[in-house]
Amino acid sequence: MQSLAVVVLAAGQGKRMKSSKPKVLHEVAGRPLLSFPLDLARRLKCQRTVVVVGHCREQVMEAATGLPGGENVEFAFQDEQRGTGHAVLRALPLLKGVKGPVLILSGDVPLLEKKSISALTRAYHRAGGPVAFLSFVPKDPSGYGRVIRSGKDVVAIRESRDCSREEKKIAEVNAGIYLIDAAFLRRAIKGIRSNNDQGELYLTDLVEMAAGKGKKTAVVAAGEQEVSGVNDRIDLSKIESIIHARINEGLMKNGVTIHDPLSVRVDMGIAIGKDTEIHPSVQIRGSSRISQGCIIETGALIVDSILSKGAVIRAYSVLEKASVGENAQVGPMGRLRPGAVLEKDSKVGNFVELKNTVLGEGSKANHLAYLGDGEIGKGVNVGAGTIFCNYDGFMKHKTVLCDGVFIGSDSQLVAPVTVGEGAYVASGSTVTRDVPPDALAIARAKQLNKKKLAAMLRKTLRARKKKMLEKKSAETEK
Ligand code: UD1
Ligand code: CA
Repeated sequence: MQSLAVVVLAAGQGKRMKSSKPKVLHEVAGRPLLSFPLDLARRLKCQRTVVVVGHCREQVMEAATGLPGGENVEFAFQDEQRGTGHAVLRALPLLKGVKGPVLILSGDVPLLEKKSISALTRAYHRAGGPVAFLSFVPKDPSGYGRVIRSGKDVVAIRESRDCSREEKKIAEVNAGIYLIDAAFLRRAIKGIRSNNDQGELYLTDLVEMAAGKGKKTAVVAAGEQEVSGVNDRIDLSKIESIIHARINEGLMKNGVTIHDPLSVRVDMGIAIGKDTEIHPSVQIRGSSRISQGCIIETGALIVDSILSKGAVIRAYSVLEKASVGENAQVGPMGRLRPGAVLEKDSKVGNFVELKNTVLGEGSKANHLAYLGDGEIGKGVNVGAGTIFCNYDGFMKHKTVLCDGVFIGSDSQLVAPVTVGEGAYVASGSTVTRDVPPDALAIARAKQLNKKKLAAMLRKTLRARKKKMLEKKSAETEK
């Protein structure tokens, strides 16, 4: 069978979204709504895809070309949204030379499945064209175009606002997904008139025009959920939940344990290896990749990050553009910012922040530290409260800790600075100069022990307090 040409209608503003962003760019599970029809077109191996853009068209075009299936998209402009018929009219010049059925999709119907398009294609060919569409029976048909039949035959689609009282009782409605013969489309579309309640050019009028020529329109029934569109943010959230449930089911079928899937949100297209265990309220987003046998504890947020085999992300850790090596551990409450790289068996503990820093194999920073713009070798121990002072108010500088270094607690390393292999930095040091290998750096005030001074101090303070209390009670008695 010849591959289809597709037109995606995406010029509308989506008023009910109450948004400054065009509707088709609102995201579900990390993907804009528009990516769903584009991906469907890609999976159907469509010969060409035309997206009709209007409202915020620059923004929509830029987003579309960056999406999977969006690389070869062509755009038709509809500056004024004068109806679905007008939108398709605008796409026609780009469909020059196309023969056979054109698939028309809506930019805001993300759950539509490939198998329904296959069923629609079969029905189209069985009837011999020129029009086929998907219908459904919604719980509440108000607002949809009703499918008008004469006997069994479909003779028209009538928009709600143009329906008679009797027609409004019809339960079957138009889903807005069509296959229309290209030649018929070119000829008939010019005949569409705007003599309806909205004064728009309705694509749906083509059904009546086909019937007028004695052609039978094929209709395929679809499920309400599958063809439901996003009109407002409530629809958006419902559809997003459905997509997340599907993603989680897919992962679980592939051997991922998800505790409390209703609270776990994994963006579309993220691969997760088997025997990885995901606890409640975890979010994994963007271009993240998770290997096998990882543990991701409750409340973790993982964005555009990579976890290698056996990595452990403890509760409430936040990772962004970070990479966690084999059996490395983070958190609880660890923070890995862009460019944080944890090598094999390394460990970042609670309240430790890493940015643009490599933590070498088996190295540890277990408590309360800021490690920015650093290069940390193997087997390094970074004590509690260590800070890489990487910023001088103008520029960022690098801190290098070579293999086997030990940094005592509460030390500051004022970059640029290098601590040589096997060196020790004493607790509480402010290191401003390089430390040679195997040296012990002590950079703090020398300790002074004054004999018996604490006992004397205690005595004085005790006496002072006693006197004060006596004075107070004398005053209240007066
Ligand atoms: C349309 C159908 C209706 C059907 C319903 C299903 C028509 C006349 N009516 O109604 O029978 O039951 O979908 O959801 O087609 N668009 C443009 N340019 C325009 C107008 C719309 O690109 O000038 C795009 C919109 O961005 C949207 C799609 O076409 O993606 C559908 O438009 P919308 O206004 O939602 O149509 P409905 O009134 O819902
Ligand atoms: Ca709609």
